[in-house]
Amino acid sequence: MPESRVPRRRRFLVCEPRHFAVQYAINPWMSTDRPVDVIRALDQWEALVDVYRAHGHTVDRVEPVPGLPDMVFAANCAVVVEGRVFGSLFHAPERRPESVPFEAWFKTRGFEVQHPEAVCEGEGDLVPAGRWILAGTGFRTTREAHREVQEYFGVPVVSLTLVDPYFYHLDTALFVLDDGGDGGAGNIAYYPEAFSPGSREVLERLYPDAVLATREDAMAFGLNSVSDGRHVFIAPGAGALADRLAGRGYVPVPVDLSEFQKAGGGIKCCTQEIREARS
Ligand code: ARG
Repeated sequence: MPESRVPRRRRFLVCEPRHFAVQYAINPWMSTDRPVDVIRALDQWEALVDVYRAHGHTVDRVEPVPGLPDMVFAANCAVVVEGRVFGSLFHAPERRPESVPFEAWFKTRGFEVQHPEAVCEGEGDLVPAGRWILAGTGFRTTREAHREVQEYFGVPVVSLTLVDPYFYHLDTALFVLDDGGDGGAGNIAYYPEAFSPGSREVLERLYPDAVLATREDAMAFGLNSVSDGRHVFIAPGAGALADRLAGRGYVPVPVDLSEFQKAGGGIKCCTQEIREARS
C-alpha cells in the first residue's frame, strides 16, 4: 500500500495568455511557422486556474501586457521564498521587459523585491525544495545568479548543470513532489539525462528515493508539473510518469496545456508560487 499524502494549500500567481504568441524562437520548441490558437490557449489556461481553485489553492493574477507574448510563463518572473522576492533578468532581450510588471505587482503588495545583477529566470531555474534551492544553469540562469540567490535568501543553493537544449530550464527536467515540510528533505521527480554526469550524481545523493522519468515523459512536459504534496497537476501525455507517481501514493490530475508547448512551456511554467513568510 503506498503512503497517503497530505496536500498543503498554495498561493499561485498567474498571467492570462491574452497576448500569447510565438513571435520569436528562443528554445527548440518554438517555431514562428507554428502559430498558436489563442482561443484554445485561453480555454486551456482557464481550465488550469479552475483546477487549482477546485483543489483549494489561491490564484492571483497579474495583468498581461501587449507585446510581451511569453508573459503567461509567470514562473520565470521571480522566485519567492518566505515572502521575499528575487526577481528576474531574462537571457533573451525580447523577454527582459516582463520583469517590470511582475516586480511592480509584488512591490505594490508590500513584498521586498531584489532585482538580479546576473541573468536569472526565476522559478524556471530556481526550485525551492525545503532545506535548499535547486538551481539550474547551462542555458539561461548563470552560476553568478546562483551565488546572488544564496546570498539574498541565506538558503543553500545547489547548482545543477543542464545539458539538453530541449530541457533548457530546470523546471522542464525536474519538479518537487513534496518539500519535506518541517526540515525533511522531501522528494522530487526528474529526468536524469537532462543533467551533466556530476549533477546527476548530486541528485542521486540528495534524493536516493526520487521518481525517475523517461525521455518520453520529459518530452510530454511531464516534469513541468506542480505538486501540492498530494495532487500532481501533470500533462496528460506523461502517462508512464503519472502511473509511477500514483504507485507512490500521489494523485495525478491531468491538465492539458498543449497549446503552450509550442512556446516550450507547460503547467509549471504558467505557475509562480508565492511562498509566504513563516508566521
Ligand atoms: N518561450 C519561453 C522561453 O523560452 C518559455 C518559458 C517556459 N517557462 C518555463 N518555466 N520553463 O523563455
